[in-house]
Amino acid sequence: MNSKSRNNRGTLGAGSHSGPPRVLVTGATAGIGEELALQLAQAGVPVLALGRSVQRLQALKARNPLIDTVVCDLADVASLTNQAVQWVKDFPDLACVINNAGVQDNVRMDEDGYGPAQVRLEVDINLVAPVLLTQTLLSHLKSKPQATVVNITSGLAFVPKRTAAVYSATKAGLHLFSEGLRVQLQGSAVRVIEAVMPIVDTAMTQGRGTGKISAAQAASEVIAGINKGRPVIWVGKARAVPVLQRLAPSVLAGIMQRS
Ligand SMILES: NC(=O)c1ccc[n+]([C@@H]2O[C@H](COP(=O)([O-])OP(=O)(O)OC[C@H]3O[C@@H](n4cnc5c(N)ncnc54)[C@H](OP(=O)(O)O)[C@@H]3O)[C@@H](O)[C@H]2O)c1
Repeated sequence: MNSKSRNNRGTLGAGSHSGPPRVLVTGATAGIGEELALQLAQAGVPVLALGRSVQRLQALKARNPLIDTVVCDLADVASLTNQAVQWVKDFPDLACVINNAGVQDNVRMDEDGYGPAQVRLEVDINLVAPVLLTQTLLSHLKSKPQATVVNITSGLAFVPKRTAAVYSATKAGLHLFSEGLRVQLQGSAVRVIEAVMPIVDTAMTQGRGTGKISAAQAASEVIAGINKGRPVIWVGKARAVPVLQRLAPSVLAGIMQRS
């Protein structure tokens, strides 16, 4: 098999001597991440669910025995590398990481009370943590016959929202990190996938936005896209983003600025 076809084939649920590879899902205690963890486990894929809430992780584990858990606050970027080294020792079957955890501050830069600490936190959780996690896990992933890094981005990675300049910048950063990493890993057995989300009905979007899809639908499209070996998965209405960017950029900008 040449390197191109090796990089394009699906991995989740793929049979091996010891069963399907384990998938690390960050932010698995709510929303899209919780659905990803549950749907993967229901499909027979072992999951390592990462979250901050012990209670919610325990509740998740109770729903499927294929789910193991790890407590981690991704904002603690200084200790992330050491923690991740331990996870691969504890779960050597790990061969896929889905960088899903994220936060969004809906705020203008000049709003009263919005300061450097909030900016730093959003950048750390949304961008620094997935980059560090991927870097730490890379040598382990490269030792596998096939492995996958999935980064969850947003339509806002391509066109910003008025009240989420920092969030949009972190997602744009994660988008380009995905592209750069994919180029670096060409010819290796590690695939890099970006899943671009539309507006999804989760705690993150509570009380705002219209036309939302469910977290279950979003997760199922991500899993289908990974299994099809797609390098970029445009989830739901996000697939209109590249089309509108080409044909009607000002229409797209108007929609996204208000989203
Ligand atoms: N919902 C949308 O419309 C939408 C659109 C585009 C992209 N996305 C992206 O999709 C991903 C999932 O979003 P969602 O809508 O499912 O959000 P959500 O329902 O708010 O869930 C976010 C998850 O990330 C976890 N998380 C947040 N900060 C963390 C930290 N410091 N350490 C560890 N875990 C942390 C949360 O845990 P806690 O419960 O402990 O906070 C939760 O499990 C995010 O990357 C988001 O940017 C979402």
